[in-house]
Amino acid sequence: MSQQPTTTTSSRDQFRSRIGFIFAAAGSAVGLGNIWRFPYLAGVHGGGAFVIVYLLSVLIIGFSLMLMEFALGRNTSLAAVGAFRTLNKKFTFVGIMGVLAGFLIMGFYPVVGGWSLSYIFKTITGELAVTDPDTLTGVFMGLITGTWAPIFWTAIYMILNIVIVAGGIGNGIEKASKVMMPALFVLLVILVVRSVTLPGAGEGLAFLFAPDWSKLSGGLVLAAMGQAFFSLSLGMGCMITYSSYLSKNENLVSNAFIIPGMDTLVALLAGLVIVPSAVALGFEVGSGAGLAFITVPAIFATMGPVVGKFFGIVFFTLLALAALTSSISLLEVVVSYLIDEKNMSRKNAVGITSVILFIMCIAASLSMGPWSGFTILGNNIFDFFDKTTSLILLPLGGMFISIFIGWFWGKDKAFKEVTNDGTVKFSLFNTWFFLCRWIIPIIIFIVFITGISSFPG
Ligand code: TRP
Repeated sequence: MSQQPTTTTSSRDQFRSRIGFIFAAAGSAVGLGNIWRFPYLAGVHGGGAFVIVYLLSVLIIGFSLMLMEFALGRNTSLAAVGAFRTLNKKFTFVGIMGVLAGFLIMGFYPVVGGWSLSYIFKTITGELAVTDPDTLTGVFMGLITGTWAPIFWTAIYMILNIVIVAGGIGNGIEKASKVMMPALFVLLVILVVRSVTLPGAGEGLAFLFAPDWSKLSGGLVLAAMGQAFFSLSLGMGCMITYSSYLSKNENLVSNAFIIPGMDTLVALLAGLVIVPSAVALGFEVGSGAGLAFITVPAIFATMGPVVGKFFGIVFFTLLALAALTSSISLLEVVVSYLIDEKNMSRKNAVGITSVILFIMCIAASLSMGPWSGFTILGNNIFDFFDKTTSLILLPLGGMFISIFIGWFWGKDKAFKEVTNDGTVKFSLFNTWFFLCRWIIPIIIFIVFITGISSFPG
């Protein structure tokens, strides 16, 4: 995260420009969640029904919750735990749950970040320049079930995070993301064109958008809603922490539309790249966590050796960078907790956190291979971390945040904060507040109760 104050007592820095905040927050949101997780979950859950429930979750919960987190962060100028403790001690646990969620996500996210780094090199060596599903699946499985190679790449990925977060060079990252995000967007658009024009892609498009409602289940709805939280970086105070650096005259309402809008667009583009091409080129769309890594190289292989290799290197580099701007936001939530609440220095906080996270990541990585026999509630360690956060901690965190706003913070304070004391026009304020007070907590609760039985693997 950029613009960190070095001590808790110094006056807090602010984002210098509106666009700086948008890129930082969008950098947090756009990541592996959009490009790796969304397409593979859509594939596993049968396509259209999942996609539609996902879009509804963004529409009904995502925008509103984004605005809630912005309001809490800017109002208190504090990270998640401090924000809740200051406003209402009884809700401090929501901030703590968020720190725990950040911790658990960082227990597997860097493993996937490591896969992305490894794929930059596999593209360079030409190992991936084929369209054959069996070969590409073999390369991917060979990587993730291995012992040392995935741990090595995870370590490199972790080191990049540590350098950025410990060194307080978030500024550089913010600048980089101003180039990286538009570049990623352009590349995705090119790839969508390539993908949907492959012979046979139409069937994949239908799979992605024409819902087969027989697939609908509590588990699907919870997975889709959890994916919306994950992709938008919501439910654990990440956006509270970011917006604590926002100036009092920033328009929260428009930011709360722009950022989820961009994130959802990127997810849909990624879906349009990966799913139709998977179907067209004969990959198994429901194959799970490897979908992006096995399908995308095949798209590049159809573009010819030179062009394909060039785009392949650019793609996996951008993927790793997009992942990096997300994971530094996760790491920052944990680190800023230790700095603010436990009076640690930034260097110590990053050091201790990183060692523990790296051990968790090693376990998560090995759980794909040598340790796959070890399961918790039927899930390997990787899936256990993933599901505990996206199916439990993030949705419940979002539920408590909206209960807090709707029932404890109160309408007047919320109105003052989101409209900058009445100077920003927000004609949907009453609708938004009604959603916070009634609709969102109830929906999340019902979805959670009906879907949680899908937790065991
Ligand atoms: N949203 C990021 C992605 O899609 C991951 C992420 C970053 C995240 N910060 C978060 C997820 C906070 C949940 C909560 O890859």
